[in-house]
Amino acid sequence: MKNILHITSSARGELSYSTGLSSAIIEKISQQNTISQITVRDLVKDTPPHADEMSIHEFYKHPNLYDEQSKKLLSYANTIVNEVCEADIIVIGTPMFNLGLSTPLKAWLDQLIRAGVTYIFDEQWNRVGQFQDKKVYLAIASGGKSIDGAPDYISAYLKDVFRSYMGITDVETYHIEGTMENGFTADYESILKEF
Ligand SMILES: Cc1cc2nc3c(=O)[nH]c(=O)nc-3n(C[C@H](O)[C@H](O)[C@H](O)COP(=O)(O)O)c2cc1C
Repeated sequence: MKNILHITSSARGELSYSTGLSSAIIEKISQQNTISQITVRDLVKDTPPHADEMSIHEFYKHPNLYDEQSKKLLSYANTIVNEVCEADIIVIGTPMFNLGLSTPLKAWLDQLIRAGVTYIFDEQWNRVGQFQDKKVYLAIASGGKSIDGAPDYISAYLKDVFRSYMGITDVETYHIEGTMENGFTADYESILKEF
């Protein structure tokens, strides 16, 4: 039985190819596993707050010092941490914007990653990620096609964040490219043929 967390971050609703590809990944997972729950978090409909002075202060506070104000300021962060805790598999869709990930997805990460929560320090001050047994799938949509040898900044960045600050090393990436070309049609089945 698997719990899936589906993160979408395109503003294009039904037209979004990153949402389409991430949904197709979930369909594939469902064919291979028994799914107990799929939680969808649409980061455009429900935009993550940006870190401000007050919330950053709460992020660094020792949990023993939390008060009513902390509960309020950390409410979004705690909600998304719980969603990640409960998930066995996290499927993330993101458009490519100027070679990078979508801004709502970056804001989600900035609310999610927290010392003492997603990672702790051991006695040698090494970071130890707390979500080592989870699997992440990335679905990245880009208007153009990548040139051979060009770095995939989105996947490289997200893999590093998940490994360094969450302990997740099992990250699999799928791309849908050339979405802005004339006459483009999405063929999720062929992108996922090896799934
Ligand atoms: C502000 C902006 C920046 C973009 N930057 C890139 C880019 O750097 N490279 C690229 O190939 N496509 C770029 N695109 C095109 C999108 O990646 C493409 O439309 C993609 O399908 C969007 O994802 P979605 O279909 O999930 O919304 C950009 C689009 C916008 C609106």
